[in-house]
Amino acid sequence: MIDQQKILEELQECDSIEKLENFEQKYLGKKGEINQEFKTLGKLDPEERKKKGQFLSSIKEKIEKEFKQIKKDIKIKTINQQLNNDPIDITTPSPNLKKGSTTVITKLRRKAEDISKGMGFTIEYGEDLVSKYNNFYSVNIPPTHPATEMQDTIYSKSKDDTNDNYVLRTHTSAMQNKLLKKYGAPLKVAIPGKVYRFEKTDASHDSVFWQFEGVVVDEGINIPNFKYMLRKILSGLLETDVQIRMRPSYFPFVEPGMEVDASCPICKGNGCSLCKGGGWIEILGAGMIHPNVLQEANIDPSKYSGFAFGMGLTRLAAIKYGIDDIRLLNSADLKFIKSI
Ligand code: DAH
Repeated sequence: MIDQQKILEELQECDSIEKLENFEQKYLGKKGEINQEFKTLGKLDPEERKKKGQFLSSIKEKIEKEFKQIKKDIKIKTINQQLNNDPIDITTPSPNLKKGSTTVITKLRRKAEDISKGMGFTIEYGEDLVSKYNNFYSVNIPPTHPATEMQDTIYSKSKDDTNDNYVLRTHTSAMQNKLLKKYGAPLKVAIPGKVYRFEKTDASHDSVFWQFEGVVVDEGINIPNFKYMLRKILSGLLETDVQIRMRPSYFPFVEPGMEVDASCPICKGNGCSLCKGGGWIEILGAGMIHPNVLQEANIDPSKYSGFAFGMGLTRLAAIKYGIDDIRLLNSADLKFIKSI
């Protein structure tokens, strides 16, 4: 006959995994005493069988429960003992740790920031989700202006105070008005950041890419100042002395607007595959800040003038590191990332 009390007492005395294993074999295993007892049930008459069966099941359940608890307690005790005897030094560096590294975009962005800081610019990052006012209207692109279509745009469903949809900034120029209002004139600020377009992507277009915007406002600012500064920045970024070429172009927020090319950093203007033989590479959009943009930020255009530029940092990285497909820069393709 099973003596539940005795079995439980025996269980309480198990203070090691080995003793527990022996206990398990003796009582709970296939050939253990409890199972043996179950086997005797067949000989009993139905009434007795039922009673004893229930009794045995309840004993088995109780013992198993207690057994599990004691096993758990012993395991925890053993681990704690091990930890006390042989503590782990969590400050020891793992020998197989794989270190990450910065991407070429981050490297180039930091370089652009360092160069600009050296020239007296402050750096501002702004937000990725902006109002339509900041992205368009405040930089002289009114709602009905066809230029809102020049930049395919990703709108958010959320709305600002004026019940206008927020938009993922299509250009870093979206920060101009906010910063001009915040700091007033004179101002020298650079804004690196991601911009977003609703884009059919190809090797040279992606829906997310990096720009680097520069804004300089002061009294008597002119194009030669601008040209000198751009030459310094681009020569620093491309790590070779480049020439600058300005071509007239149109951007609503500048007048005159221009496209700025740098002499090809590879062939120095003689013509190669990078510059497609032309000797020049288009790098950024720029211009003298439109009086409307200054006025909108409460800066007097009859007193102050300024220039602004928006450089494609992603494009520049592609040029500098010879990347054929800019989409790779947003991919998690480790083979590519390690190769540059
Ligand atoms: N925001 C323009 C774009 O994304 C680039 C640009 C052009 C920025 C002229 C400027 C500028 O600040 O003056 O295409």
